[in-house]
Amino acid sequence: MNLLYFTEGKIQSLETNFYTPRLMRRQLVLQILLGSVFTGLLLLLADQQQGSWNSSMDLCPPSQKAPTKDPLDHSSRKFEWLTQTPHPFDLRYPYPYPFLINHPDKCEGPRGAPFLLMLVMTRPQDVGVRQAIRQTWGNETLVPSVVVRRLFVLGLPPPLFDKELQALLEEEDREHGDLLQVGFLDTYRNLTLKVLMGLEWMAQHCPSAKYVLKVDSDVFLNPNFLIQHILQHNGPPRPNFITGHIYRNPNPERRQGLKWYMPPELYSQSKYPDYCAGPGYVLSGSLALRVLSVAQRVKAIYLEDVFVGFCLKHLGVKPVPAPPRTFLMVRRKYNHCAFQRLVLVHHFQHQELLHIWPDFLRANNTC
Ligand SMILES: *[C@@H]1O[C@H](CO)[C@@H](O)[C@H](O)[C@H]1NC(C)=O
Ligand SMILES: *[C@@H]1O[C@H](CO)[C@@H](O)[C@H](O)[C@H]1NC(C)=O
Ligand SMILES: *[C@@H]1O[C@H](CO)[C@@H](O)[C@H](O)[C@H]1NC(C)=O
Repeated sequence: MNLLYFTEGKIQSLETNFYTPRLMRRQLVLQILLGSVFTGLLLLLADQQQGSWNSSMDLCPPSQKAPTKDPLDHSSRKFEWLTQTPHPFDLRYPYPYPFLINHPDKCEGPRGAPFLLMLVMTRPQDVGVRQAIRQTWGNETLVPSVVVRRLFVLGLPPPLFDKELQALLEEEDREHGDLLQVGFLDTYRNLTLKVLMGLEWMAQHCPSAKYVLKVDSDVFLNPNFLIQHILQHNGPPRPNFITGHIYRNPNPERRQGLKWYMPPELYSQSKYPDYCAGPGYVLSGSLALRVLSVAQRVKAIYLEDVFVGFCLKHLGVKPVPAPPRTFLMVRRKYNHCAFQRLVLVHHFQHQELLHIWPDFLRANNTC
C-alpha cells in the first residue's frame, strides 16, 4: 500500500514538467525527496521482514505482548484483541483533527458567500497537479457572474522527510493561499476523513455557500456548464439537492485485494444504497451541513462516496439524476464540442488538461 503510494508519487513528480523556475525547483526537490523516501522505505521494509515474520503472525499487537506464562491467559488476551482491536480499515471519526494550514476567511469578501465552494482532494506531493488545476478548471474567476472559491484539501505528508515536504507545502500556500491541510496521514484509506474535514471546514467558515463540489484531482471539469445548466444560478434554493454520476444499489466488492474491497465484517448487506460517484459530485450547502451532522452518528467507512450514500439514506434524500452523459466515469477522448456540454470526465491527467485547455476555452459557434 505504502510502496504503491510512494511509487505513484514518484512517477507523478517525474512526469511533471513545469514552467516557472520556482515551481521547477520545488518539483525537483520533491523528486529527490520522494526518491529517497522510496529507497528508505525499501530498506526499512527489508529490515523489518527479517525480524518480524514470527511476530507478524501473532494476533497480539506489540503493546499487549506482555510476557505471560499462563496459556489460558494468553488465549483470553487473543480473544480480547480479536473483539476489541479496530479493523485495519476503521477510521477515527468523529475526531478533532486540527487544520494545520487554514484560510478561515476564504469565503468572506464584498460579494458575499460563494455560490460554489470547490473542495479539491489532492495529496501533499501533487504540486504540479494543483498548479494545473489553478490554471484550468479551478480558476475562481472563470465564471465571472458568480463567486467561486477553491480549496485543495490534503492531509499530512508521508512520515519520512515530512519536515521538508511540509516546508514546501507552506511555501506553495504562501504563494496561492488555497491549501487546507488537516492533521491526519494522507492515504487512500483516509480519503473519507478528507471529505468530512472539508465539510467541517465549510460548516465552520463557509456555512452559507450555496453549493459544495467535492472533486478529485484527476478529472476534467467544465465549471461553466456546471453552474449554468446543473446548478442554475438565480434558481430557487434546493435543500435536498445532490447530483453526479449515480450508482444505483450496487454490490459491495467482495474480492479481497481489489481497490474497493469491502470486508463483510464492516458491511454485511448485499447492496449499497444509491450514491454519487466519488470523482465529482455537487450538493447544496444546506444538504452538505446535514450530511456532516448525520456523519457524526453513522460509522465511517473508507469509501467516501459510499459513505455519503449512507448519510443520504439516513436523511431520506435521494440523489437527483444529472442530464445524461454529463458526469463521465470512463475516460473520453477530448472533443471540443462534446466537452462544452458536459460537467466532468474522470481519468484526466493534468498534463493533458493543460494541453487541451486553450482549445476548450476558445468559443466555437459551430458546436
Ligand atoms: C521464528 O520462530 C521460530 C520458532 O520459535 C524460530 O526458530 C525462528 O528463528 C523465528 N524466526 C525469526 C525470523 O525470528
Ligand atoms: C483565470 O481566468 C481569468 C478569466 O478567464 C483569466 O484572466 C486569468 O488569467 C485566469 N487565471 C489563471 C491563473 O489562469
Ligand atoms: C489515517 O490517519 C490516521 C491519523 O493520522 C493514521 O493514524 C492512520 O494510520 C491513517 N490510516 C490509514 C489507513 O492510512
